[in-house]
Amino acid sequence: MDNFWEQLEKPILSMTPMAGITDSAWRQICKMWSADVVHTEFVSADALHYGSKKTLAMLAYQASEQPVVVQLFGKRVDMYPKATKIVESLGVAGIDLNFGCPAKKVAGHGGGICLLRDMETVKKIVNTTIESTNLPVSVKSRISLNAIQGKPEQGKITAFDLIDALADLPVKAMIIHGRTYETPFTGPVDLEALKQLKQAFKTGVFLINGSFQTIESVVSDLKYTQADGIALSRSLYGQPWLFKQIKDYLKTGVYQTITWPEIKDTAIKHAELLFANKGKSGFKEMRKHLLFYVKGRPDATEIRKQLVSVETPQEVAKILNKLD
Ligand SMILES: Cc1cc2nc3c(=O)[nH]c(=O)nc-3n(C[C@H](O)[C@H](O)[C@H](O)COP(=O)(O)O)c2cc1C
Repeated sequence: MDNFWEQLEKPILSMTPMAGITDSAWRQICKMWSADVVHTEFVSADALHYGSKKTLAMLAYQASEQPVVVQLFGKRVDMYPKATKIVESLGVAGIDLNFGCPAKKVAGHGGGICLLRDMETVKKIVNTTIESTNLPVSVKSRISLNAIQGKPEQGKITAFDLIDALADLPVKAMIIHGRTYETPFTGPVDLEALKQLKQAFKTGVFLINGSFQTIESVVSDLKYTQADGIALSRSLYGQPWLFKQIKDYLKTGVYQTITWPEIKDTAIKHAELLFANKGKSGFKEMRKHLLFYVKGRPDATEIRKQLVSVETPQEVAKILNKLD
């Protein structure tokens, strides 16, 4: 299988895995708006190993989403060979390994970012995955975490340690969220560390992630860090066209403001795709996206009141088509 990462034009614009967000509908919408790569939300290697149908169903995708990267998490090395084979059999483009999740249910049990405290296991997981597949394997992590929980004075484990540990393995891409375990989702990213990490990582492409501010700042962050690309996350909520705007800005120095008809069409399309995938029972998930799509409109409060109870894409279209 080709290493698709190498074939993408740089800078690579990707979206990160996000639990509860990056489902097939959202990935299709991001691709429509020029994302280069899309990621599934993280799925448990253990669940795949044990044949969970629910987990497998989370990995359904459309050809138009490719290249699709499936992200796995889990701390048991022996779960990865079978999980990897299952993922490979789906025909996706790559596998990403999660060493960055700070959530209690993952990190609290020594998984996600906390696995970096057991670098031998991290190395074994990456090696085992690479040996089990022909797909390119990537890794996503964070800048650092305290070496001992709650004891910053005892030192830190950093993404530099991760890069050192994996230096002999052909990891094809690395995505580093420029925040720490201790500051999981707020505050600025450490651009200086990201710049140095880009230099340190030798085996594949290096993507920065975290705290997207403006289209202009994405471009200047890319320039400053010399990264091969950027992975967007929460900034995409309600504005998947950021991919196109960033690309336009990179190529021409200008980008178009998005118009209401484009926003409305995107939101309705998104609703239709999500309904097609998840039906009426799953459609509630669309409501949070819709609230973001109307953000910034002077009548947003009034429209939100109507959108919070929609049950079908037809209802969404009826509400949005009435607006100028
Ligand atoms: C709701 C939510 C779910 C997330 N799920 C995942 C996940 O499944 N895997 C992962 O590696 N990171 C996950 N993340 C982290 C994001 O991918 C990203 O690294 C983080 O949000 C920082 O980027 P931002 O500041 O641009 O949002 C999640 C973040 C959020 C807010």
